[in-house]
Amino acid sequence: MKKKIFYVLIIIGLSTLGIVDNEEPALKEIFKGHFLIGAAVNNDCVYETDSKAAEIVKKHFNTITAENSMKWLLIHPENNRYDFEAADKFVEFGIKNNMFIVGHTLIWHYQIPQSVFLDNKGNQIKRDTLLKRMREHIYTVVGRYKHKVNGWDVVNEAINDNGTLRNSKWLEIIGEDYISKAFQFANEADPDAELYYNDYFNEIPEKRDAIMRLVRKLKSENIRIDGVGIQGHWGLDYPDEKNFDAFVDSINALGLKVMITELDVDILPKPALNWSAEIAERFKYSPEIDPYINGLPPEVDELLANRYAQLFRMILKHKVKISRVTFWGITDRTSWLNNWPIRGRTNYPLLFDRSYKPKKAYFSIIKIVKSDQ
Ligand code: GLA
Repeated sequence: MKKKIFYVLIIIGLSTLGIVDNEEPALKEIFKGHFLIGAAVNNDCVYETDSKAAEIVKKHFNTITAENSMKWLLIHPENNRYDFEAADKFVEFGIKNNMFIVGHTLIWHYQIPQSVFLDNKGNQIKRDTLLKRMREHIYTVVGRYKHKVNGWDVVNEAINDNGTLRNSKWLEIIGEDYISKAFQFANEADPDAELYYNDYFNEIPEKRDAIMRLVRKLKSENIRIDGVGIQGHWGLDYPDEKNFDAFVDSINALGLKVMITELDVDILPKPALNWSAEIAERFKYSPEIDPYINGLPPEVDELLANRYAQLFRMILKHKVKISRVTFWGITDRTSWLNNWPIRGRTNYPLLFDRSYKPKKAYFSIIKIVKSDQ
């Protein structure tokens, strides 16, 4: 017994001297007073079959986003059938753990059954029918979680990198006002939930201007939009900091909240020169572009940690304008970047490794926040 106390005292002594540092502070404590900090969670997390992932979320995060369970394809797999099971569980997990709950996503071109756009005979439907379907979907999903889900990604990825509108079925069948309609229906279904537009590469000047035009247009039509999400699927050399600053300032000047909604940092080689962030694109696997299958070399781990530090310095500069930072996933083990834009690679984009341990990147962020205070 005496021996045990002796060792404990030695450890306390050493850690006060900074020699042993076992401390793994909760991110939500570290960022308190700045912004909410969270993660996109999958079913294994909310059902707690992946109990270690669930523990990380409970310890570190005060906001969660549904990684997949609320996407049209999963929550509304056939025109006359909804499947709320996993989404209900997601919301229950968030409420039980006192979290700010983000619903993702109502209107998107991807992960949606093609039958939404077709009649029984397989012909493309007309504007009025699609608007009716859109309204029914939004009323049903948003209505079910009224006063439980705190914010919704209402429209996801509607704008191309060059600032034009993405050529989706929504645009083709309804026309440009499908975006206003989606926000209008979401507001009618839950006037108290925050409503967001969410996209990637927002900082590209043409895209930024297009997002600003969209926000102004909605405002001029008296349609409520509360914030813009910057997905933040970033890399070692993007986004450009000046462009990021300009984007945050522009959205803030329009009176809207800014959030980083899907943060991760891709460290693997890009598959091709014409690579873009288009989710529907997939490239062929080859071993040269999967260099870390046997583990992350310490120097790359360090590089990632430095990059995360840089990114959080950039984010913290805007802490009064940014209301939330959400990572896209919890550990490297389940990150979507193991399978995109090439299936079956070993990627390391998050703060927690494959054995649920905090990485260097986690500690580098803690250091940045502490030095910022
Ligand atoms: C986009 C979507 C997310 C998710 C990621 C990758 O950013 O908004 O829902 O699908 O791609 O998984």
